Amino acid sequence: MAAQRLVPVVETSNIVKDGGRNSLSWNEAKKRFKGFSENKVNMAYECVDRHVEEGRGQKTALHYLNEGKEQKISYDELKQRTDQLAAVLKKHGVKKGDFVFVFLPKHPDCHIAMLAAIKLGAVVGPLFEAFMSDAVRDRIGDCQGEYLITDRELLQRVPREDLPSLHTVFLTDGSGQNGEISLPEALSETLDEEFVLEWVDAEHGLNIHYTSGSTGKPKGIIHAHRAMVHQYQTGRWVLDLNEDDVYWCTAHPGWVTGTVYGVFAPLLNGVTVVVHGGRFSAEQWYHTLETAGVTVWYSAPTAFRMLKSEGDDLPGQYDLSKLRHILSVGEPLNPEVIYWGAETLKHRIHDTWWMTETGAQLIVNLPSETIKPGSMGRPFPGITAAVLDDNGVEQPRGTIGHLAVKAPWPGIMKEVWKNEAKYNSYFPYEGWYVSGDLAVMDEEGYLFFQGRSDDMINSSGERIGPFEVESKLIEHPAVAEAGVIGKPDPIRGEIVKAFVVLKKGYTETPELKEAVRKFVRGELAAHAAPREIEIVAELPKTKISGKILRRELKARELEKLGAGA
Ligand code: PRX
Repeated sequence: MAAQRLVPVVETSNIVKDGGRNSLSWNEAKKRFKGFSENKVNMAYECVDRHVEEGRGQKTALHYLNEGKEQKISYDELKQRTDQLAAVLKKHGVKKGDFVFVFLPKHPDCHIAMLAAIKLGAVVGPLFEAFMSDAVRDRIGDCQGEYLITDRELLQRVPREDLPSLHTVFLTDGSGQNGEISLPEALSETLDEEFVLEWVDAEHGLNIHYTSGSTGKPKGIIHAHRAMVHQYQTGRWVLDLNEDDVYWCTAHPGWVTGTVYGVFAPLLNGVTVVVHGGRFSAEQWYHTLETAGVTVWYSAPTAFRMLKSEGDDLPGQYDLSKLRHILSVGEPLNPEVIYWGAETLKHRIHDTWWMTETGAQLIVNLPSETIKPGSMGRPFPGITAAVLDDNGVEQPRGTIGHLAVKAPWPGIMKEVWKNEAKYNSYFPYEGWYVSGDLAVMDEEGYLFFQGRSDDMINSSGERIGPFEVESKLIEHPAVAEAGVIGKPDPIRGEIVKAFVVLKKGYTETPELKEAVRKFVRGELAAHAAPREIEIVAELPKTKISGKILRRELKARELEKLGAGA
């Protein structure tokens, strides 16, 4: 490895300007938000109104690009539009503590809907735009959600008949057949001055994201407004945001990265946020970097691998001269990708590690520090991480164990919705949050990801619970039993692979396998549908409880891959 290619850029980064990694005290960091001392805060105030009050209203807050279409929204306009929408929501009954789900594509309307709900002190539940009806039903149903903001197209995937609690649905593009409220109409009758922002205490619920584990349905992780301290500070030191930055996070707000680092952290830091609509295409992505003049870019290993696979000539065809800082999250970042970044994009790619539950980045590569390719980085200042053995005892450096973090910290989840036992399960040892990831720490405190201690699947950085996919598979008329694992994949990290036992009377054909795959895709979500289905005569099971042994399926698969290599 040519060390110079990865030299740190020390002088210019915020953390250096601010005094270095030892200069952080969370109590000091809190002082940026004056409401903390009076327990009167609001994330949306800090993201939007504050910048207007401090004279930055003219600045572009959101820059939307989608295949030739462009729209710029200033902080002034963002304040006016979020106030006006909040006034409409309030008129229709939304109040402090209510859940407001937002099911919209990557578009400023999605950001505006989320921030408007937060201005009212509601708990916002952004839903990923590719969710199908089962995923939508599970989430809104679990919260007994009463309010939803969506559009006419996505409304088709909202099974209203199964969601009796959902009494009010707002559409961003007109009215619907079941009493859905047309927002363009409602907004035209409402003035933004009618609205006064709700102050909440720092512990008040802010957002809910559902996330998968190895068992059961996805769980609702609720975060609190206090997360703003952690999200602002990591935005400043890890993303290295300055007010003149143009920043692009490629995740949809339906995933925690898209909310925390696509909406909150950059707006807290007062930058211009690029919102790119539409699907992945290498040309479109490079075009967006060029046209918007992106300076700081946060994406994921699968996306970088997909860009890499398009050839090294492509980036040279675009003017990427504004780009100065690149980051990655969600899955292991392979050294080859870091070398590709240094060679082709002429920048280091800074890996970051965190989870839905953690609310913000915990293990990071700071712009001022050395990157060790293959490592997720070191704990963010103010965060203590360790590698523990099965009894909660800290392991010596270089030994694999459970990646754990000293709790609490400002971004940590507030609760798991209606599931205290699940919340408590993250804290099996006094004072430690245990992540479920396995890791090794080296002498200098760098952490290296070693896999999961459970069966959770990570495909393209998306967290998938095998139980959820298995449950869906056995709803198909041809499927008797199913076991689902993550199979290593060079581009996506892992792919979902299903082992299926067919019911009597069904025989294996390519058409049947495709029909089963489409069934999961159509009802759950595309990312959860098995890319590979193997028909087997039986599944390995535990002798006593008869539970499917996913580990055994995975071991066999890895052996096959090893044998083939
Ligand atoms: O296994 C780790 C993996 O993603 C999990 C968290 O997934 P989720 O809650 O969906 O949040 C994703 C982004 C915040 C972790 O338990 N993961 C996340 N970042 C990394 C990672 N694995 C390896 N390297 C990372 N940098």
